[in-house]
Amino acid sequence: MNSTDRKVVLITGASAGIGAALAREVARQGRNLALTARRGDRLESLARELRPLGIDVLAVPADLEDQKAPEAIVGRTVEHFGGIDVLINYAGFGLPMVFAEADPLDLRRQLEVNFVAPLLLAREAIPHLIARKGTIINIGSAITSVANSALGAYGATKAGLAYWNDALRRELRHRGVKVCLVEPGPVKTEFFDALMTFAPAGGQYNPLLDAPLPWMTADVTDVACRIARLIDRPVRRLSVRRRVVWPFRMMGGLFRVWPWLGDVALSSVIYHFDRAGDLKRARNARSLGDARPTD
Ligand SMILES: NC(=O)c1ccc[n+]([C@@H]2O[C@H](COP(=O)([O-])OP(=O)(O)OC[C@H]3O[C@@H](n4cnc5c(N)ncnc54)[C@H](OP(=O)(O)O)[C@@H]3O)[C@@H](O)[C@H]2O)c1
Repeated sequence: MNSTDRKVVLITGASAGIGAALAREVARQGRNLALTARRGDRLESLARELRPLGIDVLAVPADLEDQKAPEAIVGRTVEHFGGIDVLINYAGFGLPMVFAEADPLDLRRQLEVNFVAPLLLAREAIPHLIARKGTIINIGSAITSVANSALGAYGATKAGLAYWNDALRRELRHRGVKVCLVEPGPVKTEFFDALMTFAPAGGQYNPLLDAPLPWMTADVTDVACRIARLIDRPVRRLSVRRRVVWPFRMMGGLFRVWPWLGDVALSSVIYHFDRAGDLKRARNARSLGDARPTD
């Protein structure tokens, strides 16, 4: 197939974790790629790795905290490829904190990257996606089933994204654009490395912050394969791994019927597991400043 006949897939958060694994899967499917994240060196090296597959790969380094980034990313992609078939909103990060003591700037960054940027990227891309009857894939999280006070603002961005995802799917249905939500459970990536910096060294397992137990954790390549299949076979919602996500969904349903049960259970969990002061440490570390990538 000629490179210009291939579908064009724009992936945010492509420098690491699931986004990078997804880029490799989508490349194996023979699509052209526009990859974006802040770390341009990583994007370039991924592009060099994937181009020998005969596809065209464009690296677009950008910071999604920058208000001009969505327009610039979509503009650069369309200028290079002439259109977009698939937008995958993958970039995001977790912000562990005691909410009442959170830095307002960190909160703003959390909202900008995880929530505002996907909306504005979609807003910029929609005319091009309508023209090609394309697809939008948004990344939510299984965390939205049960509110976790250690990641309250993070969960709120993902819950907001899920609501908007459904509204947008209904709006664009008649224009031929498919809109999918992926809800991953825990996947071992750099996402947890950032959270782990706040966990007590050699301490007890803390389910609010520590990397999840191995049996809960999905393999990053498996998750990427499942998501890549959505390009040809879109579904409304994809849970990965389903067997981890469903128990959380059922617990969430239970707490909606008996909200007092959720309050008692989850407040006690927070009370007991924060006794090591992890969340306070997260606040003191000014998480975003410290977690910013340097390589
Ligand atoms: N891992 C899990 O267990 C899990 C579970 C549920 C949902 N998710 C969601 O999956 C997505 C990716 O997570 P992951 O596990 O792959 O994490 P990851 O390995 O930490 O990757 C995060 C990606 O987001 C990019 N990013 C972060 N801040 C950015 C900014 N300001 N501007 C542009 N790009 C930015 C990072 O690139 P740069 O640092 O180079 O900018 C990186 O490519 C997130 O939306 C996360 O909420 C993850």
